[in-house]
Amino acid sequence: THAVIKDVLSGQYQVGDTVTVKGWIRTKRDSKAGISFLAVHDGSCFDAVQAVAPAELNNYENEIKRLTTACSVIVTGTIAKSEGQGQAFEIQASSVEVVGWVENPDTYPMAPKRHSMEYLREQAHLRARTNMVGAITRVRHCLAQAIHRFFHERGFYWISTPIITGADAEGAGEMFRVSTLDLENLPRTDKGTIDYKQDFFGKETFLTVSGQLNVETYACALSKVYTFGPTFRAENSNTTRHLAEFWMIEPEVAYAELKDVAQLAEDMLKFVFKAVLAERADDMAFFAERVDENAISRLQSMIDSTFVRMDYTEAVEILKNCGKKFEYPVEWGVDLQSEHERYLAEVHVGAPVILQNYPKDIKAFYMRMNEDGKTVAAMDILAPGIGEIIGGSQREERLEQLDARMDQMGLNKEDYSWYRDLRRYGTVPHAGFGLGFERLVSYVTGVGNVRDVIAFPRTPGNADF
Ligand code: 4AD
Ligand code: MG
Repeated sequence: THAVIKDVLSGQYQVGDTVTVKGWIRTKRDSKAGISFLAVHDGSCFDAVQAVAPAELNNYENEIKRLTTACSVIVTGTIAKSEGQGQAFEIQASSVEVVGWVENPDTYPMAPKRHSMEYLREQAHLRARTNMVGAITRVRHCLAQAIHRFFHERGFYWISTPIITGADAEGAGEMFRVSTLDLENLPRTDKGTIDYKQDFFGKETFLTVSGQLNVETYACALSKVYTFGPTFRAENSNTTRHLAEFWMIEPEVAYAELKDVAQLAEDMLKFVFKAVLAERADDMAFFAERVDENAISRLQSMIDSTFVRMDYTEAVEILKNCGKKFEYPVEWGVDLQSEHERYLAEVHVGAPVILQNYPKDIKAFYMRMNEDGKTVAAMDILAPGIGEIIGGSQREERLEQLDARMDQMGLNKEDYSWYRDLRRYGTVPHAGFGLGFERLVSYVTGVGNVRDVIAFPRTPGNADF
């Protein structure tokens, strides 16, 4: 039987059972006694299984001894108790079939040593083979599954919102244009501007920056919904927290206020942290050893804590009076920078903070105006070590107020007519948030750059692979 290595190592087979594993050589060691020890991995778990290949095998001299890291092999043998420390079981090989050789092993880019994350980024097509990227990949998968499970168990429906859109959901003008027009020969209107009527969709279109506006339409019918999909931002930010293409989870709840979705976000984060500690103990142990010794305890303490809620206004007072010199000075009304967010989460509170009720002028047009007329019902969740991982708000459900905000911000109401209809036909209070998936994976693993937690990162100047 074809066995996955996870099952072999976790004792799903009996000593003496015959199994076949299919994978790649991580390392090989030959003993003087004429035995080769092959560490074979197949991605099913962090560890490789040890296959013991004796000299009696007919291809021992001409093939097995020549195996190097990354060769692909099919090993058949019997399960045995392992003598060495570390693992309980190994495979006594009765056959080792070489499926693919590594040509010129000296030039193979993924030598079995530690590579820098920068180097691995340049080898994006090969880096999945490393322990590090394998572990990140399994944790990312586990988190995605846990998120779907969390929402499913709470009665949310998953809505697939469009990637191509005509509306700027954040009103921030950071969109990639989608067009089939011939750049050399752009059609022009009488006024000399580009005539997008002649484009594929008969109008100017973009890659979505957020599925929120679309998912609101479904919340206003199915009550509890969420999106989980790719989003795109043409912001020229060269930081460890920004990607031009990232994945976002956006729940949206009808008959909900800001405090309800703040609680939902806290519950969701705790749920997925528990899942990853339970399901990916092997990979988390690796991160604790290699990347951040607090990788596990950090999640555990978040699970046990109550997130602190704080108003923006109070946070500004704290930052002004804390005695620390920031690169960007703080005044009521400014957008908080990463240094401020991190100070609040890491130094002042030492745990995640839910910052609420931001000045209206630094937030998006759809956020609900508070009674004071100066702030909106917005929240950001700031995590130690990374800053903002979640941004959300209660939405403006009153047409008059929404229109006033759109006018103030110079948005074209015609572009948002369908969004305004939600306020005209059976409007309800509703609220939601967006979780940046790569920031979550970065937080959980301790891997400090979001480029390393997505398979093929897209950043300014980089769309290779
Ligand atoms: O705060 P943002 O811009 O909020 C929205 O897009 C809302 N429509 C969400 C909602 O209420 N439904 O983005 C949400 C989150 C941020 O907190 C951050 O974690 C992540 O998305 N994010 C990015 N992640 C990686 N690279 C980027 N360039 C990101 N921009 C935002
Ligand atoms: Mg935000």
